[in-house]
Amino acid sequence: MIGSMAVLRTARLALREFTLADLDALMDVFGDAEVMRYGDGVQCRAWVQAWIERCRIGYGAGHAPWAVDVCASDVTIGYCGLTAIPDLAGRDEIELGYRLARQSWGHGYATEAARAVIEYALRDIGLARVVARVDPGNTASVRVVEKIGMRHERDVLLPGYTHPDRLYVIERQL
Ligand SMILES: CC(C)(COP(=O)(O)OP(=O)(O)OC[C@H]1O[C@@H](n2cnc3c(N)ncnc32)[C@H](O)[C@@H]1OP(=O)(O)O)[C@@H](O)C(=O)NCCC(=O)NCCS
Repeated sequence: MIGSMAVLRTARLALREFTLADLDALMDVFGDAEVMRYGDGVQCRAWVQAWIERCRIGYGAGHAPWAVDVCASDVTIGYCGLTAIPDLAGRDEIELGYRLARQSWGHGYATEAARAVIEYALRDIGLARVVARVDPGNTASVRVVEKIGMRHERDVLLPGYTHPDRLYVIERQL
C-alpha cells in the first residue's frame, strides 16, 4: 500500500489516494458497527467498492478522502480527507471527514491526520473555510476537531436526521 505515492506525510502517517486494493482494509472501517455507530451503519463490500470508485473520481474532479497508512507498520488504518458538500444547511462547504479502524484508536492518529489535512486545505491549496459535522455524542471526534483548532459555529439538522449535528469550522487567517 505504502508504495503508492503519498499526498501528505506526518511524523507517523502517510495519506494517499485509495485504490480498489484497499477494499479489505476499508471493511475494518465500514464493516464494523462500533466504527459506524455515528454514521449510516455497517456497509457491505459492494458499497465500499462503490465508495472507493467515488473517491477515485473525486481525486480528479475536486476533493475526496485519502487512505491513512501507518508508516512504521505498513498498515492502512482508515481514511481522512476533504469532501465537497453542496448545500450543507444552505451553503456549499468543504468538509473534513475521518474514520479509523478500531484497533488503531487511541494513538492520536486521527488528530495527526486531520491536522495535516487542515494545513493542506488552508495553507497549501488556499481554501477559505473547512467544516466538520460531528454528532455531539461522539466525544472522541469532538476532541479531534477541538484539538486541531476548529470552533463550534452552529448546530445543523440535516434531512433524515433525528437530532442536530454540531458544525465545526476553521477559516484561513488573512
Ligand atoms: C473519532 C476517531 C477518528 C478518533 O480516532 P483516534 O485516532 O482514536 O483519535 P485521537 O487519538 O487523535 O484523539 C481522540 C481523543 O478523544 C478522546 N476520546 C476517545 N474516546 C473517548 C471517549 N469514549 N470519551 C471521551 N474521550 C474520548 C481521546 O482521549 C483523545 O483526546 P485527548 O487527546 O484529549 O486524550 C475514531 O474514534 C473513529 O474512527 N471513530 C468512528 C468514526 C467516527 O466517529 N468518525 C468521525 C465522524 S464525525
